[in-house]
Amino acid sequence: MISGFGALNLDKIYIVDKIPGKDEEGYVIDLELHPGGSAANTVAGLASFGMETSFIGKTGSDEEGKILLRDFLERGVDTSGIISAEGRSGVAMIFVDKDGNRAILVDPGVNDTISIDEVNMEIVEKSSIVHMTSFICKNGLDSFRSQIKVAKRASSVSFDPGMPYIERGLKELRPILKQTAIFMPNRTEIEMLFGMDYRESCSEAMNMGVEIVAVKLGGKGCYVTDGKREYHVKAFSSNPVDTTGAGDAFNAGFLYAWHKKRNIEECARIGNFVAGKLIERVGARSYDGINPEKAL
Ligand SMILES: Nc1ncnc2c1ncn2[C@@H]1O[C@H](COP(=O)(O)OP(=O)(O)OP(=O)(O)O)[C@@H](O)[C@H]1O
Ligand SMILES: [Mg+2]
Repeated sequence: MISGFGALNLDKIYIVDKIPGKDEEGYVIDLELHPGGSAANTVAGLASFGMETSFIGKTGSDEEGKILLRDFLERGVDTSGIISAEGRSGVAMIFVDKDGNRAILVDPGVNDTISIDEVNMEIVEKSSIVHMTSFICKNGLDSFRSQIKVAKRASSVSFDPGMPYIERGLKELRPILKQTAIFMPNRTEIEMLFGMDYRESCSEAMNMGVEIVAVKLGGKGCYVTDGKREYHVKAFSSNPVDTTGAGDAFNAGFLYAWHKKRNIEECARIGNFVAGKLIERVGARSYDGINPEKAL
């Protein structure tokens, strides 16, 4: 079983006549709801590839929380590790006007308040890998600290820090990195974290105990190394229409392949394939019909 541990957010995309400035008023033309959160999107992908999956996270006692849970249940993700709490679920309000301009307001809601005694350790112990992504940490560090403790208990950890964690700096991330088997940042993130070129940064990460680093390079594909071998793997040829969730889809493909005991070059190729296919559709969880076995 592969588990995710990260923020659960409902993206509310408001199509608006204009993005209002101070003291201005606009109106909403349409509203789209998309369940999101980086680890959650990756787990959604893994579930659609037929893998046994589970999620550790927190939702509020509101309609948004029900939508987030329902989406997982429909995909066959085990939700017994999702804590339901008083308060608001995580929401990202995304305002888009007709010219494509965007303004985003994030409400972390209850995401940041996961204490370690709320975490279902049975799930952690049953997982062959726990995939972790960032919490915003605007309402406290509980969830981040719980991830450090879970990382110590898990048999294996994969970690995509995203910008919110990169900004915390190397010293704070060290306890998670020390337990990380598969580290999956993008190029900007790893270079900012170590203050070096991405290939040198990978060596530094491996000095800390990381076993495999996969660096996402956007339209250029990815770079993957285990310290003994290194590969630049070209992106899958794609006609992108919506790149939301590209990195999460890469992680899903990579982890699927890793679970099937593929070598790192094949994992990278399958990651690129899944990401390249997903970005040809609208929505970060539009995995229907994507078969990672077709990548090789
Ligand atoms: N234009 C593209 N053509 C083909 N594949 C792409 C393109 N852009 C991204 N990808 C694929 O998506 C993967 C992840 O994208 P990217 O490097 O932008 O990650 P990221 O910055 O972490 O993304 P995210 O913002 O979703 O977290 C790439 O490694 C690549 O496989
Ligand atoms: Mg990313």
